[in-house]
Amino acid sequence: MVMLKGQLFDIESLSDEMLNRIFELANGYAKNGIERLSDSGFMVPLFYEPSTRTTMSFEVAAKSLGLDVLNFSLANSALKKGESELDTIENLMAMGIDLFVIRHQSDVLIKTCIEKFATNAHFINAGSGVSAHPTQALLDVFTLSQLAIPFSELKIAIVGDLLHSRVVRSLLKLFKRVGIQNYRLVSPASFALDKADNNKVFDDLGKGITGVDVVMTLRVQKERFSKDSHFNVSAYQQDFCIKKHHLEKYCPKAKIMHPGPINLGVEIDEDLTRDKNALILTQVKNGVFVRAALIKALLE
Ligand code: NCD
Repeated sequence: MVMLKGQLFDIESLSDEMLNRIFELANGYAKNGIERLSDSGFMVPLFYEPSTRTTMSFEVAAKSLGLDVLNFSLANSALKKGESELDTIENLMAMGIDLFVIRHQSDVLIKTCIEKFATNAHFINAGSGVSAHPTQALLDVFTLSQLAIPFSELKIAIVGDLLHSRVVRSLLKLFKRVGIQNYRLVSPASFALDKADNNKVFDDLGKGITGVDVVMTLRVQKERFSKDSHFNVSAYQQDFCIKKHHLEKYCPKAKIMHPGPINLGVEIDEDLTRDKNALILTQVKNGVFVRAALIKALLE
């Protein structure tokens, strides 16, 4: 997809200059709070899939910048009367809405909006199918940047349902851009990524997390499983749920991350989510700064 200024489909939509600008702004917001923009505008989150963190985080970010945030309720929208998603968006643009944050089951809607309407409005991908979730990747890498470990030395294990994760797909693109090379992909074979460098793939939790600085766990995304999937939750819990004793044995100083929402006791033990090394709520907090930074950078 071509890179169009002021639009975000995935990590490749952002030039190096934009990436630096987003991290620089996010740093400033984290230190001094979010500054209001001089211009006003309307933002609407269009979420065709469930969300708590991403939608609320965009709202807090946009409101902190002084934008007006409109509320779109899928259940009460004209979509229920048969209007197409694109028609809805064209109508909203005609009202003067200039920033759309879209989460959808596929890439098609956001890609089409960027291709057709980029001169009229800004579009941000807040998660599309299993392929892209660039703002989660940005906030995760921003959180990693606060650890004061140079990216060239950082060792990170990403553990869990990689196959159904749009988070990991965007994250790996961003790792490449910022120079995080020392990552491991840890999962049962049935959850492995389709294309991955074999040296980085582990199907044994202990081996996969040995000596890492960060363990990032991902949700088991049952809603994306195929109908004939034979997922065995107790086997998964036994082999891949992160427990305190794993960290003590294999990576005692490791920080713990999870993009949320969490299936407690499936991906990670509840106690560990509140551990002093857990960065899970830091990720959420940083999400607001990074999304505010992104909005400002896209509107500039
Ligand atoms: C992620 C998503 O929607 O892809 N969640 C999020 O945005 N915080 C990960 C997930 O749903 O597991």
